[in-house]
Amino acid sequence: MTDRWYEEAVFYELYLRAYQDSNGDGHGDFRGAIQRLDYVKSLGVDCIWILPMYPSPLKDDGYDVADYYSIHSDYGTLEDFKAFLEAAHDRELRVVIDLVMNHTSDQIHWFQEARRDPQSPYHDYYVWSETGNEYAGARIIFLDTEESNWSYDEQAGKYYWHRFYSSQPDLNYDNPAVHEEMFNIIRFWLDMGVDGFRADAVPYLYEREGTNCENLPETHLFLKKVREMMNDEYPGRVLIAEANQWPEDVLPYFGEGDEFHMCFHFPIMPRLYMALEQHNKRPIVDILNRTPVPPEGAQWLTFLRNHDELTLEMVTPEERQWMWEQYAPDPRMRLNLGIRRRLTPLIGNDRRKWLLLHALLLSLPGTPIIYYGDEIGMGDNIWLDDRHGVRTPMQWSAEKNAGFSRAGETYAPVIDGEQYGYETVNVARQEDNPDSYLWATRFLLRARSQCAELQRGSREWYTTESESVLAYWRILDDSRTLCLFNLGNEPTSISLDLRELSGGRVVDLLQEDASREISNWPAVYRLRPFGCHWLHIEA
Ligand code: GLC
Repeated sequence: MTDRWYEEAVFYELYLRAYQDSNGDGHGDFRGAIQRLDYVKSLGVDCIWILPMYPSPLKDDGYDVADYYSIHSDYGTLEDFKAFLEAAHDRELRVVIDLVMNHTSDQIHWFQEARRDPQSPYHDYYVWSETGNEYAGARIIFLDTEESNWSYDEQAGKYYWHRFYSSQPDLNYDNPAVHEEMFNIIRFWLDMGVDGFRADAVPYLYEREGTNCENLPETHLFLKKVREMMNDEYPGRVLIAEANQWPEDVLPYFGEGDEFHMCFHFPIMPRLYMALEQHNKRPIVDILNRTPVPPEGAQWLTFLRNHDELTLEMVTPEERQWMWEQYAPDPRMRLNLGIRRRLTPLIGNDRRKWLLLHALLLSLPGTPIIYYGDEIGMGDNIWLDDRHGVRTPMQWSAEKNAGFSRAGETYAPVIDGEQYGYETVNVARQEDNPDSYLWATRFLLRARSQCAELQRGSREWYTTESESVLAYWRILDDSRTLCLFNLGNEPTSISLDLRELSGGRVVDLLQEDASREISNWPAVYRLRPFGCHWLHIEA
């Protein structure tokens, strides 16, 4: 495996608390997750990203870190973590962990010291103000809960800066000691053998008056130093940016191939849902036309859903309103600037739409990432607080607690009800059903893994006259595949002239039927409602 393994990989986002409880306390843990690694492997994914597993008061589900060098007791011990890492590596699965760089928990001893003693070296680890009036140009992210990015600390008698919950004070990157702390933390986990980091909330590391305090040049300088160190000391490990920004603002996070290996592509995600509901390819075409090609060795990371709300930060206010009306008719479904629902309920459990979205995800340029549970079409629980409704226990079987835990009570209730309840939607049941989402996931991942251009090829539009039919080529050297999607809910046909590629044969990788000679190819190609095709040309 080369240092550029991530370019061909498929990622799986695994929420530990939800995955498998091994000790009966109602919380998933590393020992439990180990038992499920064969399942993860069976999906055909290559790398697991686990959400923060550090000790934390869990005001933001672990994104409020209280100790960067240890494991939350719900999840086990450092030894358990190492065992998990080893068990994953034994199966040729890589593991990427979350690195929360921008802020800490207010419970970490750094902040405790900082607020207690202005003379303490830790005081300057945080960003303080006498007035709380600075940096007024910075937006508030957790709009539903926070009124300001400043909170007053009684003990310190000053305001401290925070971009997220007030229980998450931002670190002061103007202090070189903070850089050193971060470098130590990064080396600690890389020494242990993790394959990289998903760096959380990176646009916000620095603050500067008169700016929106996002994407500042100082931030890039620091991140480049991290990359340089990783290149020198830990080649082959990856650095992934969570920067919820427009493509042109994300581009600098790749640097010239000397910053992040991969960046999440946030704006394309809501547009996939938008195009599907508008039966129009325009939103996807427009954002892809606005998406630069990352420098050599760098890559987008694409996703349909994750552990947060389906964010609508990267759409216009009109589009956001439209998305809310379509996908979040009940106000309870809305959260901050997004939608707190899972993929399958969003599309009304429509198998055709599910397949189309996944075929899109797996054929767009970039490394795809699948959110745990979506591979079996899990539902959500919008009545849980914050974003917890999309973080419910993994549904393994129809047994008690969905086979997730033997506890009397689990950290969150398992999904109930006729359509998405664990008795209906679970791994065990889908294992036996070739028509299930689970089989479809495996089939799609296998088809992708056998097609080099879908993994690493360039993308070129194939122009169709229909506004509902999205079509693009993926091309690598002499290999090419035409990806075709009917976003419409009506059957349609397009003229599809492949004869210039004379001599070859065509095989639809999404159908399990035989290849056809191009010379026999129909000039008019029919697509079913929400039909999708990967037409691979065999030279
Ligand atoms: C990222 C995480 C989100 C968290 C936030 C603050 O956006 O995905 O879950 O709340 O950062 O750390």
